[in-house]
Amino acid sequence: MSLPSNSQSLAIALTKGRILKDTLPLLAAVGIVPTEDAETTRKLRVDTTQEGVQLLLVRASDVPAYVEYGGADMGVTGKDVLLEHSGRGLYEPLDLDIGKCQLVLAGKKGANVSGEGLLRVATKYPEVTRRYFDERGQQVEIIKLYGSMELAPLVGMADLIVDIMETGATLLANDLEVIEPICDISSRLIVNKASMKMKHEKIHQLISGISLAVTQ
Ligand code: PRP
Repeated sequence: MSLPSNSQSLAIALTKGRILKDTLPLLAAVGIVPTEDAETTRKLRVDTTQEGVQLLLVRASDVPAYVEYGGADMGVTGKDVLLEHSGRGLYEPLDLDIGKCQLVLAGKKGANVSGEGLLRVATKYPEVTRRYFDERGQQVEIIKLYGSMELAPLVGMADLIVDIMETGATLLANDLEVIEPICDISSRLIVNKASMKMKHEKIHQLISGISLAVTQ
């Protein structure tokens, strides 16, 4: 367990884009408002109206690492990212009910997915994909990609993809369909284990306030 260096301060890791946009109203409800436009600034660390509370702007897939290793006390990230990270070394006290989507197995329309031969699956979630197929006793070859997974079946590079689907528009536009939903996804508040102990009062106050804002 590692503790963020300044035990008086509180750092919250967020990601620019939808997570930031949806999280700012929840933070505002507990009196935390960035002192500059967090979406457009080139700064990676932004002060807020609450003294000692700063926002860290990091990549979505890096939020668990920042929180686990104490670079941030708290963070907001998708359950998809947490499933891939395996939730080591951090608490996940709150479902923020934002960033809702589904993790799905998808492929070309009418694709034969149970046939012979080793299926290839393109995904940016290799751990989740490995677990999914292990549970089914099916051996697959996993190709790790970092985005635009939908292209892989179109160019014959993979038989299937494991990716998040929100509206389904991207699958539809690329002539793909859901073969099986894997799980529901939403953004979660996560907390560094040492911070939870050392800054218990402050963090509990925030969790309670944000929890109230989520249900309103
Ligand atoms: C995500 C995901 C899908 C798309 C799904 O991609 O990987 O491609 O959104 O949304 P939809 O069902 O509403 O079409 P994102 O835009 O985050 O970019 P990425 O491919 O770089 O991950």
